[in-house]
Amino acid sequence: MDGNGRWAKQRSHPRVWGHVRGSAVVSTIVEEADNLGIEALTMYAFSSENWSRPQTEVRVLFNLLFKFLKKERERILKNNIRFRIMGDVSNLPEQTKKLIAQLEGETAHHTGLKLTFAFGYGARSEIAYAVNRFMKANPGKEMSEDDLNEFLMIPDLGDVDLLIRTGGDHRVSNFMLWQIAYAEMFFTETKWPDFTVTEFRFIIEQVAKRERRFGAIAPTANLETNVIVARENQRLIRG
Ligand code: IPE
Ligand code: MG
Repeated sequence: MDGNGRWAKQRSHPRVWGHVRGSAVVSTIVEEADNLGIEALTMYAFSSENWSRPQTEVRVLFNLLFKFLKKERERILKNNIRFRIMGDVSNLPEQTKKLIAQLEGETAHHTGLKLTFAFGYGARSEIAYAVNRFMKANPGKEMSEDDLNEFLMIPDLGDVDLLIRTGGDHRVSNFMLWQIAYAEMFFTETKWPDFTVTEFRFIIEQVAKRERRFGAIAPTANLETNVIVARENQRLIRG
């Protein structure tokens, strides 16, 4: 979700104004993902590199997370959404941590949309974390790809089918590096506060037309109706 700061600057507002506007967009996209029946939606809200931003901006981002959780709690519960945070939240204010733990607990048994906020997240550190935990649990054993999958922060998120980056930069910026091996990538110039449900749907439709071969010659999966179909196929192929 990139481009908040530039969006605000273009309008002669402070950067944090862009984050405030951007957080409203988060709600609309979550709702749409839920309506579309998408299995998992992971939003990159705060990277481990974002800690180096000015303290006031960091505090605004914390605050917006807190507000989002308070505002969306009822809807998350009502819609069977499974909410989780992926990343290091140890530096968040106590009341935010409490709210997160509460909502994660309350939705642990939910079977609908897997809604994950990557917060204080970095993919390299996630991979190192997985390797270390595996080694501790299996001293002297060689690690397989399946082992690594199993020891990631949230293993059941599986592989990423589609990665969307807003804001015009064509970078991955340490996001789910292991899980995006075969992801379709979509980069849009739209800055996050201007991102709409219409564009979200358009991107999914565009990507659904691309043929995914997973390195094979014949198509093994085609995203025809929506991304879930591909994810199910992928699972069947892997066994
Ligand atoms: C939002 O956009 C990303 C977050 C860290 C929430 P930015 O704050 O990176 O905005 P730009 O890239 O400076 O425009
Ligand atoms: Mg940015």
